[in-house]
Amino acid sequence: MLKHPLAKPLFFIFCLLPLLWIVANAVFGDLGANPVETVTHQTGDWALRLLLLTLLLTPLKNWTGNPQWIRFRRMAGLFVYFYAFCHFSIWYLADHGLDVLSMLNDIKDRPYITLGFTAFVLLTPLALTSNRWMMKKLGKHWKSLHRLVYLILVLVIAHYLWLVKADYREPIVYALIGGLLLLLRLPVIRQNLLYKQGVS
Ligand code: HEM
Repeated sequence: MLKHPLAKPLFFIFCLLPLLWIVANAVFGDLGANPVETVTHQTGDWALRLLLLTLLLTPLKNWTGNPQWIRFRRMAGLFVYFYAFCHFSIWYLADHGLDVLSMLNDIKDRPYITLGFTAFVLLTPLALTSNRWMMKKLGKHWKSLHRLVYLILVLVIAHYLWLVKADYREPIVYALIGGLLLLLRLPVIRQNLLYKQGVS
């Protein structure tokens, strides 16, 4: 199934669905009383969900012993960047009217913005180097660079936990899933507990 020629196009459509949903809601005026806030939240949520999905693909490969899961990793990662870019752009445009100084002051003054912005900046080199050419060019450094994704996950979850004022349930669920995905990367768990023999 994962090898099927339609698997990748279908995954592309799956990643695009949140955007289509947001656009459809905008067209039909279904974005609530504060459309900018709704779109900021939805793009942030989908960037985080797809980030978790991206980090799930390697454990899935190891559990099932099927390397085909990795075929979807680059596309999922690029969609993380796409939704994070939309999230950032809406905030930059709506909150700061594209004023760089005002944006920098906000990044300096509000810790949850500092965290989100740092995550976004760190995501940029990962998106830029996610192609095969850069992979070859960077050699063994590519893997080290892409390990930044773990730090990005921590920053994004901290960003979410920090901005919430009352109901912590949703960010806590994401934090637990993210924590589990990070735990699965620990060599002791990777090698001894869950993984099929011969697959690293
Ligand atoms: C330049 C970087 C970023 C800025 C300026 C930013 C800004 C914001 C703002 C203003 C909110 C809404 C806060 C509120 O309504 O009180 C928000 C929420 C959120 N952001 Fe970000 N963010 C950034 C990066 C990121 C990144 C990289 C991710 C994920 C990969 C992310 C995920 C989220 C999530 C999950 C929420 C909560 C959505 C919800 O409440 O449903 N943000 N962000």
